[in-house]
Amino acid sequence: MKALILSGGKGTRLRPITYTGAKQLIPVANKPILFYGIEAIKEAGIDDFGIIVGDTKEEIRKAVGDGSRWGIKVTYIEQKEPLGLAHAVKIAEDYLRDAPFIMYLGDNILKEGVKEFVQKFKDKKPNALILLTPVPNPQSFGVAELDQEHRVKRLVEKPKKPKSNLALVGVYLFDKNIFKATKAIKPSWRNELEITDAIQWLLDEGYIVESHRVTGWWKDTGKPEDVLSANRLILESMERSIEGEIIESRIEGRVVVKEGAKIIRSVVRGPVIIGENTKIIDSYIGPFTSINSEVIVEESEIENSIVMNKSLIKNMKKRIDESLIGREVKIFASSRKPMVNRFILGERSQMEVFQ
Ligand code: DAU
Repeated sequence: MKALILSGGKGTRLRPITYTGAKQLIPVANKPILFYGIEAIKEAGIDDFGIIVGDTKEEIRKAVGDGSRWGIKVTYIEQKEPLGLAHAVKIAEDYLRDAPFIMYLGDNILKEGVKEFVQKFKDKKPNALILLTPVPNPQSFGVAELDQEHRVKRLVEKPKKPKSNLALVGVYLFDKNIFKATKAIKPSWRNELEITDAIQWLLDEGYIVESHRVTGWWKDTGKPEDVLSANRLILESMERSIEGEIIESRIEGRVVVKEGAKIIRSVVRGPVIIGENTKIIDSYIGPFTSINSEVIVEESEIENSIVMNKSLIKNMKKRIDESLIGREVKIFASSRKPMVNRFILGERSQMEVFQ
């Protein structure tokens, strides 16, 4: 089997973070989202990967490389415009050929991985296997309608009036018949070749489409709040490990402090991860926070947030909460008192608040 990971697209709902970076590389618990997908697929025994890349191709190539770090082989497939998920499958035909494959949306994270799902596909050999899970906002996803025997009857992309609360998770398994579907369907109202339409075509033509329910949590990290929520879920399952230096500080619960990091006169309350060579000085780092490498946090309080590489947070006595802070961002307080702090800042932003 092969894997097709979709890592193109524009990431408009994650601007400004995605003005300068690929959304699939936003770190969750200090690891790019895309790497969770790669690792889950590798764990299912697949090591031949095609990665669809768009405008952010250089950045993705730099981060993933030739895949040797995971013992996989990577072929990059360029998609000039994000013309839809089924379009991505279509342009990958030369790479995939006759091999059955797993298609994985590069911004999705699943707690349970994909092993069980891949095994079910191998055992039952349907033409397509889709993953479903109940969600409170089905209008934001592809939605499946099942018949009385729980077989997939109809799939609709982002319906205004959803017929069920079962969303399509961004992981699919296909055999080569999906190429016939991608050639037969027409672009949707948003001018994309929709994978839901391609799977609907398979159903209409009598091919076998099986479904599988996700039992653990699943996150489509399309929006800032989804990224923060994925961060909380990943941090919750981490084990405590302290490699850096702790000086006159209190470290409570599941905290990871990477090599070269220094925690000085501070309180860190887990689950928290602190990256390599980061300095936390006279500060409070609260639950569900991921601070990446080479960051400085001084005289500040932060929780439930993500801070990317090389940023500086200084003198922010009013606690920072629920924030997604890009790379090389500077936030420092002066004299007026801000009542709340809630930031979504892009790469190289510089912000000064009063206290
Ligand atoms: O996450 C699950 C949902 O993913 C499903 O429920 C929907 O049925 C499915 O259409 C998809 O919806 P999204 O609106 O979330 O898809 P998005 O445009 O965010 O694209 C998903 C990933 O695929 C993302 O990593 C970017 C990449 N992509 C997207 C398009 C449209 C490409 O590589 N090429 C593309 O042309």
